Amino acid sequence: MKLILDTANLEDIRYFNTYYPIVGVTTNPTILSREGGDIVAHLHEIRKIIGNKELHIQVTETDYDAMVKEAKAIVKAFGNKETVCVKIPATDVGLRATKALAEEGYRITVTAVLSAGQALLAANAGAAYVAPYVSRLENIGADGVGTVAEIQEIFDAAGTDTQILAASFKTAREVLDVALTGAGAATVSADVMKRLLAHTTTDTSIAGFAADWEKAFGKKTLGSML
Ligand code: E4P
Repeated sequence: MKLILDTANLEDIRYFNTYYPIVGVTTNPTILSREGGDIVAHLHEIRKIIGNKELHIQVTETDYDAMVKEAKAIVKAFGNKETVCVKIPATDVGLRATKALAEEGYRITVTAVLSAGQALLAANAGAAYVAPYVSRLENIGADGVGTVAEIQEIFDAAGTDTQILAASFKTAREVLDVALTGAGAATVSADVMKRLLAHTTTDTSIAGFAADWEKAFGKKTLGSML
């Protein structure tokens, strides 16, 4: 399962793009509103940091013509049809725009997906990704991971090219459970991403290795002895 970073914070993007095997960055209007300021310049800066990796940017228009026009402008401004995925919400207008844009080769991430029905429609409209919101489902007593599993089963049965980009995670456990469903990708916040790596026993193991090495060989590294 590919991992994408769900933030527009430049410091976090620089850090995770350097150290973690992420394949892109996702944003949404809420995420961008946290950064404020010149948001166009900010998105250009994200592009500069991540190079040709995927950048997912959501439309803000709500009517069909304006949405399609905005989607094309977003792609032109921040990359190309390969590197920019336009996020379009799972609505009737969104489906229509997805179908039209996908026919022209744009990669659309149908977002705010809360049911398998929405995912099926998005895939049939030609979406590159559907983004089911795992924690938002769990928060209302629904089965977020189960919904992702159901969508994956539907996509597998149909042999669709659309991939799941699971989103809205609050815990590392949710990410792992979604990975077990065979989902193609997940977008994860900086906090949850860190929790996937951090382990106190890893830290104590590394400290033990260093102490034992130093006791036997002093300050020299193995590399310096070669
Ligand atoms: C993807 O970018 C989604 O918009 C995002 O994961 C939603 O996450 P939230 O439910 O934590 O706001």
